[in-house]
Amino acid sequence: MSITKEEELTGMQKVSEAVAHTLKAMSSYAQPGMTTKQLDEYGAKILSEFGAKSAPYETYGFPGWTCISVNNEFCHGIPSSRILKEGDLINIDVSAELNGFWSDNGNSFVVGKDIHQHQKLVDASKEILHKAIYNIKGGVRISEVGHLIETEAKKRGFKVIKNLTGHGIGRSLHEAPSEIANYKDKYNQTRFRKNSVVAIETFISTTSSYADTLSDGWTMVGNNGGFMAQHEHTIVVTDGKPIILTEGNGVWN
Ligand code: CO
Ligand code: CO
Repeated sequence: MSITKEEELTGMQKVSEAVAHTLKAMSSYAQPGMTTKQLDEYGAKILSEFGAKSAPYETYGFPGWTCISVNNEFCHGIPSSRILKEGDLINIDVSAELNGFWSDNGNSFVVGKDIHQHQKLVDASKEILHKAIYNIKGGVRISEVGHLIETEAKKRGFKVIKNLTGHGIGRSLHEAPSEIANYKDKYNQTRFRKNSVVAIETFISTTSSYADTLSDGWTMVGNNGGFMAQHEHTIVVTDGKPIILTEGNGVWN
């Protein structure tokens, strides 16, 4: 969507506060011994306290309130009886609707102690998202930001997933521009537009370049195994620094 009046910005700020608060609370709540379903139900309760509805459930009939992906699962993992273990790499992606506005926020992190050395990948993804976001303003080509993300990933010894992308958002979960890739897509001539709302997401991986869907119809895993970290913020593009709508609760930390 494009922000044309104050109440649209306010609407986006409210739903973004709900998803950011929920994601932060779930990230602190996650611990070894807990099932991903327990974690999801905890998040669902917080979303409902804000009056917000799960975006993946509302839009796609996803079998959960938030997407929780662990280790070999890259994204769209279904909350289940799977028990979190010390050192697991987990990704929680919270997206929701409130009063007709939609926002999206994701966080990968290590559960408990980092006994499997995932932190370097997590830090790379966070830093790259930060850098990508602060290079976005009206008129910048989407492919330039993709180029930046891939270059920064390579510099740190990582790859990017080519078939997972950021996207426009605001009046629905997925809007135009439909693909904000993590590499230089030379066929994409689209530029970021001032006042538009977009979800920027990293997909930084150790050994895979594509994600495949498992037979459950949702969970995506790497075509070449390994691990992936994703961080995502919903932002408003401006002439200068973007407004990071989902930053309120410090996913950078
Ligand atoms: Co998301
Ligand atoms: Co998204």
